[in-house]
Amino acid sequence: AAIGKGNYRHFMEKELHEHPAVIGDTLRQYVDPATRAVARPALPFDPATLPRLWLSGCGSAFIVCQTARYWFENIARLPCDADVASELRYRDPPLTKGGAAMFVSQSGETADNLAAMKLLRTGGQALVSVVNVPESTMSRESDATLMTVAGPEISVASTKAFTAQLSVMACLALNFARARGAIDAAEEARLTTALLEVPEHAAKMLDASAEIEALAEDIKGARDVLYLGRGSMFPIALEGALKLKELSYIHAEGYAAGEMKHGPIALIDEKVPVISLCPSGPLFEKTASNLQEAAARGGRIIAFTDEDGAPALRRFASRVVVLPKVDPFVAPILHAIPVQMLAYHVAVLKGTDVDQPRNLAKAVTVE
Ligand code: G6P
Repeated sequence: AAIGKGNYRHFMEKELHEHPAVIGDTLRQYVDPATRAVARPALPFDPATLPRLWLSGCGSAFIVCQTARYWFENIARLPCDADVASELRYRDPPLTKGGAAMFVSQSGETADNLAAMKLLRTGGQALVSVVNVPESTMSRESDATLMTVAGPEISVASTKAFTAQLSVMACLALNFARARGAIDAAEEARLTTALLEVPEHAAKMLDASAEIEALAEDIKGARDVLYLGRGSMFPIALEGALKLKELSYIHAEGYAAGEMKHGPIALIDEKVPVISLCPSGPLFEKTASNLQEAAARGGRIIAFTDEDGAPALRRFASRVVVLPKVDPFVAPILHAIPVQMLAYHVAVLKGTDVDQPRNLAKAVTVE
């Protein structure tokens, strides 16, 4: 049967509201309910001895790869590289014997990712696909497939598939961490619990959309918008910027907060909103001080944070959006939702074609 929009104005709006269910369904696929630990997924390599992992994707799926790289490196102590498939396919990197590669894709049909897959297959790497379509070409061409449980995604801009992909990668990070002896049982239980609580936090955020709609009013007239984040929040800054430019045609850039002084700071004045993803945690102070530098140059700071980060940011930010306080491990999953919502609401205000932005396609099956 054809999929409808239900009571929603756009598929994107409907799919945004599916975040909590999709994250929950995906986590249930990988977390053993009895032990509350990530069950060992069927993989063509042993995570305990894997020397190196390649991650490849396009668009938002590449942003998932970049986020996962932080997790695999920091939590699982696994050497890891993330690349856009269109680069990886021609980069011809030296490959480690016994290495593996993971290909992230909603459709499982993206041409550049299929080509990157072929290159790494020739280089003797074990191949795993993380896809949302079980019968897809990427699934057939890989040694193992890990499914996201996002259901059909109609809106050209990916939303729920993105958080489902992050959920799979977060589960893998915990499983690999255990296999490699990188975390103890107590830490694993703590991080798994944090992950399992994401759906309920996500649901609360979706109910509180009035604040995001007000923020959309604030930035709909901007010509340029800068998104900043550090560590695993840096890729979410990229996701915020990608979604805003795709949907609303406002020029937006995502930057590592510490890199702002090497370029974007030249753009900052009172007309450029600086949107920062700044949850409390080990990198909070560093990010906050970058924002203060932007504020000192007249920048209009909009900060997404939590109750612990809010007081310090309120001193100079023009808007502070307070999200639930979670472990920094899962903060990227949670913060992805409001930045996608923001892009959606700006697009609605500007009257653009939300579900089918100009020049973009849902699955890019040509090079
Ligand atoms: C297109 C879509 C994006 C998606 C990207 C990768 O650009 O508009 O939303 O992230 O392709 O697609 P895939 O199916 O490989 O995830």
